[in-house]
Amino acid sequence: MIDLRSDTVTKPTKGMMEAMMKAEVGDDVFGEDPTINQLQEKAADLFGFEAGLFCPSGTMTNQIAIQVHTKPGDEVICHESAHVYNYEGGGIGRNSFSSVKLIRNSTYQISADEVEALINDDQDWLARTSLVVAEDTSNRGGGKCADFEKLKAVSELCRSRKLGFHMDGARIFNSIVRNGHDLKAYGSLFDSISICLSKGLGTPIGSVLLGSTDFIKEARRARKVMGGGMRQAGILAAAGIYALDNHVDRLTEDHDHAQLLAENLDELKQVTSVIPPETNILIFDVNPEFGAQYFLDKLEEHGLRGVPFGPNRIRLVTHLDASREDILKAKEFLKGVLDRDYSSTV
Ligand SMILES: Cc1ncc(COP(=O)(O)O)c(C=O)c1O
Repeated sequence: MIDLRSDTVTKPTKGMMEAMMKAEVGDDVFGEDPTINQLQEKAADLFGFEAGLFCPSGTMTNQIAIQVHTKPGDEVICHESAHVYNYEGGGIGRNSFSSVKLIRNSTYQISADEVEALINDDQDWLARTSLVVAEDTSNRGGGKCADFEKLKAVSELCRSRKLGFHMDGARIFNSIVRNGHDLKAYGSLFDSISICLSKGLGTPIGSVLLGSTDFIKEARRARKVMGGGMRQAGILAAAGIYALDNHVDRLTEDHDHAQLLAENLDELKQVTSVIPPETNILIFDVNPEFGAQYFLDKLEEHGLRGVPFGPNRIRLVTHLDASREDILKAKEFLKGVLDRDYSSTV
């Protein structure tokens, strides 16, 4: 089975497992796990932040960041497609007692003008706008990279209006590898960044939240309250260190594979449109007469798995465990299933 449902389906490599086996560990609730401390410092250093916090998931790092940046009754601004809004179980309301204002556009990006238009005046009867969240790369946007200059303009606006600016960087390294950003220049735009180790980087678990020393001190407290204080989790952090050292540059392979999958896809009879992939996510639409699930079931019979991303929309994600050979096979399966006529009575 070629599993392209997500880049989270990967298994740890042999080298990663060896690094995990050798990890020195301690009780991280006491701050005594040397491998976790090393990962946190390494990730923070990369992006020019003072401190980092290792957490089990990207949902947790995002939700903690939102909680630390806001007070109950505040308002958060993000794009309508944002993971923090759509796929974190209503966590902004549930964990932070804050409301959300959405930027609605078809670019999957936020601009300073759009943010500015949604900032509430300082009035007793209005929610206090306190945080802006961006996402790079955009999951719903088919792995689209955020534009650096746009982020910079939003960052300047946030600083002048005293708003926090958080980056959901679940797939930040895909954007960095694709655009060649200077990591510290990129990091300097934000008050906090969440980076995921368990997506393209291929670890079994883990995300790191980056911020100032004071911010991470508060975040540590929030993590404990959410039940995310871990003990000898250095075996997991070791996978993260290994991934940062070994699995970043290779992301270009995943990007090439997504391009390869997308080539000529729009010529297949059942495909109505394709979002050209910028990184490792390929999104395309299929004949609405049958819908995405119909074709996904047929693809699965051939040995290819993807996910529905809307009634007629399919998402495929390339990753560490999908070789070039797998991708070439997947292309054949796509052609076999999507380049045929189907009778609507079948
Ligand atoms: C953009 C984005 N942010 C955050 C997350 C949350 O990560 P996790 O599944 O580790 O909670 C995901 C997960 O797919 C994601 O795509």
